[in-house]
Amino acid sequence: MERRDFLKLGGTALAAGAVVMKGEAANEAQSATPFAAPAIDTVRVAYVGIGGQGSGHVRNLLKIPGCRITAVCDVRPERTAWATKTITDAGHAAPAVYDKGPRDFERLCETEEVDLVYNATPWEWHVPIMLAAMKNGKHTATEVPAAMTLDDCWAMVESAEKHKKHCVLMENCNYDRMEMMVYHMVRQGLFGEILHAEGGYLHDLRSIKFADEGEGLWRRAWATKLNGNLYPTHGLGPIANCLDINRGDRFDYLVSMSGPSRGLQDWAAAHYPEDHPKRKERYVLGDMNTSIIKTAKGKTILVEHCTNLPRPYSRIHMVQGSKGLFQGYPNRFYIEGRGRNDQWQEASTALAELEHPLWKEIAAQAQGAGHGGMDYIEDYRLIKCLREGKPTDMNVYDAAALSAVVHLSVQSVGRKAAPVDFPDFTRGRWKTTPSLEIVHM
Ligand SMILES: NC(=O)c1ccc[n+]([C@@H]2O[C@H](COP(=O)([O-])OP(=O)(O)OC[C@H]3O[C@@H](n4cnc5c(N)ncnc54)[C@H](O)[C@@H]3O)[C@@H](O)[C@H]2O)c1
Repeated sequence: MERRDFLKLGGTALAAGAVVMKGEAANEAQSATPFAAPAIDTVRVAYVGIGGQGSGHVRNLLKIPGCRITAVCDVRPERTAWATKTITDAGHAAPAVYDKGPRDFERLCETEEVDLVYNATPWEWHVPIMLAAMKNGKHTATEVPAAMTLDDCWAMVESAEKHKKHCVLMENCNYDRMEMMVYHMVRQGLFGEILHAEGGYLHDLRSIKFADEGEGLWRRAWATKLNGNLYPTHGLGPIANCLDINRGDRFDYLVSMSGPSRGLQDWAAAHYPEDHPKRKERYVLGDMNTSIIKTAKGKTILVEHCTNLPRPYSRIHMVQGSKGLFQGYPNRFYIEGRGRNDQWQEASTALAELEHPLWKEIAAQAQGAGHGGMDYIEDYRLIKCLREGKPTDMNVYDAAALSAVVHLSVQSVGRKAAPVDFPDFTRGRWKTTPSLEIVHM
């Protein structure tokens, strides 16, 4: 029985995961090597969704050796025109343009001979675009979160396995300077065994959500539909790596609670007259969502989401081990026997000794790129892995597990914080997949 048929019969997505595990497909998937594909000399890229974040990726890709943007797609012709000019100004041939409406990416995927379809579109489009790409024999990469439902998480996994294509979660925060240094410190054993971690996305997005352009056109609408953690991967990605999630451990179950929803209502009341359509919107998203994940090995992870309240930016970034911890915002660490007892050491003092080698090697190239350079580094790594025929740093199982927090937190919030199980998207492969390497340029 196909998983989707099972769903139609009224089973839950979690149960469906258990059903497919028993099938032949599961055995096949378990024995296949994790997503390495033949090396590609020059990676031909189609870029879909060239708004705020997509335009940064287009600029990065133009600087990265061994790739060409040969097709671009956006529902707004002015954005494909911008991309065409940027690409030709950089000395490359004009890309093929797809701007004939919200499903024109399908025509692109069917028509263009490209190696990678990479998108930075609104959340609801990520999975349809990736499925169209893989079905047509292309690797695919997406901005975050990859998917908003468990069903879509499984659809990505099934398609990547079936078509043997990469389906990559582009989690840029995995490549930020401090996150990479912490991962490097974890690998050196400086914090001992990692037992607990905390991450989040705490960012006052009220003005962006109410803008009449960019994310204001789609992101606020999600707050009228879902109450949970709608954007878990920035905080979770780096700490999941430190805990070897999908590489020796996995997310087992989650509990989640949301507080009241005030921030967007208050903002609308302060900025729009009473009869304005934005004043009529009703938000269900609690301003502060707190989730706790237990891993199969018993470790704990706290994940927070808060984008509707006034506050300074933070991703928390706390990693606690048996010998010490790192704590972000501001960045500091404590390692037993090093420095003064009970006192933080400023993280920047450790950079000379402990900085991740990739950061040292690539910092000059990444300078000036989006989000302090980390966006360039993630794009660089994606292209490098494809060119060398190596598994990408984040794979489809990571895309599914990290993004599943959206759906699972909404479920748990709706059931008085009842525990909800993560499907094992890897179907047992998490037990044998090795940790991420310390990668170089
Ligand atoms: N990693 C990060 O730090 C980061 C930062 C910002 C945004 N994002 C993510 O990037 C994605 C895009 O966000 P953004 O801020 O660039 O939003 P945006 O609204 O500025 O850009 C989205 C673009 O997609 C286009 N688009 C919409 N529907 C489309 C479709 N069906 N086909 C083709 N194009 C379509 C829009 O016209 C627009 O140009 C989101 O997933 C968001 O969560 C990530």
